[in-house]
Amino acid sequence: MSGRTLEVTVGGPAHGGSCVARYPEPDGRAVFVRHALPGERVRAVVTSDRGGAYCFADAVEVLEASPDRVEPPCPYAGPGRCGGCDWQHATPAAQRELKAAVIRDQFARIARQDVSTLLHGVEELPGGPLGWRTRNLYAVGRDGRVGLRKHASHEIVTVEHCPLGVPGVADPPEPPVPPRGVTGIEAARGTLPDVAVLAHRAGGNRQRRGRRPPDRVEVVTGPRRLHHHALGRDFRVAAGGFWQVHPAAVEAFAAALLAAVRPAAGERVLDLYAGAGALTAALAAAVGESGAVIGVESSRTAVADAAANLADLPQARVRHGRVTADALTDLAVGPDVVVLDPPRTGAGRDVMTALIGLGPRAIGYVACDPAALARDVAVAAEHGWRLASLRAFDAFPMTHHVECVAGLVPPGAVSAG
Ligand SMILES: C[S@@+](CC[C@H](N)C(=O)[O-])C[C@H]1O[C@@H](n2cnc3c(N)ncnc32)[C@H](O)[C@@H]1O
Repeated sequence: MSGRTLEVTVGGPAHGGSCVARYPEPDGRAVFVRHALPGERVRAVVTSDRGGAYCFADAVEVLEASPDRVEPPCPYAGPGRCGGCDWQHATPAAQRELKAAVIRDQFARIARQDVSTLLHGVEELPGGPLGWRTRNLYAVGRDGRVGLRKHASHEIVTVEHCPLGVPGVADPPEPPVPPRGVTGIEAARGTLPDVAVLAHRAGGNRQRRGRRPPDRVEVVTGPRRLHHHALGRDFRVAAGGFWQVHPAAVEAFAAALLAAVRPAAGERVLDLYAGAGALTAALAAAVGESGAVIGVESSRTAVADAAANLADLPQARVRHGRVTADALTDLAVGPDVVVLDPPRTGAGRDVMTALIGLGPRAIGYVACDPAALARDVAVAAEHGWRLASLRAFDAFPMTHHVECVAGLVPPGAVSAG
């Protein structure tokens, strides 16, 4: 049906920033409609149809609008335009409702769990829905044109300003001249106003699980390490390394994680996917000098940053290594608590099974993809573990992304701590 215009009434949100309609109505194929809101009657143009049970469409005309609809604050948002945001056309409160509905739906479908009594909505972070991105990757075309990509496309939309960015990150940096293999130009900043500009080049031909290999990234101007102030501490982190993008995220996630697992003085905590030590520092303060926090992190640069960031906390250490089932079994640490903050793919069955095998009294899980979290919680449930708490934060306003912080307890435990 690619290119066809359909008139449909749109239902609830799907994971990824669209709403689900049926064509023909009421029980035909699923149509994932972007730029629509639940309950709206729209004309939608099919953007991709590869046959099968579903296709994708963009709402190009709203015939009956939802009361939650607003004029997108960004001039580049809309059908066929910049694909960076998904929910510019919804009020911020409605965006959080949509994300909460997606989390509930993912747990129901994937983990067969009803989380509606645990999840009390998606919590707003301070700072408002615009001007929060401390890092933005702009695409660079072969001709040197800079912009942001259309949704699910390599096509570039020229933008002069991204309203999601903090000052210094909202305006696309100049790409090197000539661009010489540069596919992206990134602006990143920490708490201080200095901006690091990083050039991205394709990372070679090696494919892992059908994915593009990570870009080769180098700082072209500005500081090589960014300064971040969080949790009453100063962190220095490689400009291309991982740090939460929303300036209020580290404080919010660390507080939620501590509430989920309640680490006590003297306890041993295993902190998987530790990065440059943000959550490690919060956990180390909670267990005190009589306790221990052992982080595991695969990036050597992040491990070096963590060593410097945690130098005043002798109870905390981040080791270099990949989190795998074998590595966890070899650790020879009987942790009281395990926390994990994996990349979007989640921890996976083997790692979840191995860390449950370590026999902690609680697991705390920080997740940037509710589907991956639900998959890993389902594995824990097979071993009798129960989801005891679930909070969600709107750390990526205007987009479909949402961060969850979950607490899991072993069979028989009523709550963590
Ligand atoms: C979402 S970040 C979390 C970082 C840190 N907890 C924080 O709050 O800043 C995920 C981290 O996991 C690391 N990582 C990815 N895959 C890994 C693996 N298999 N083993 C260990 N670390 C991994 C990445 O380098 C990244 O630092």
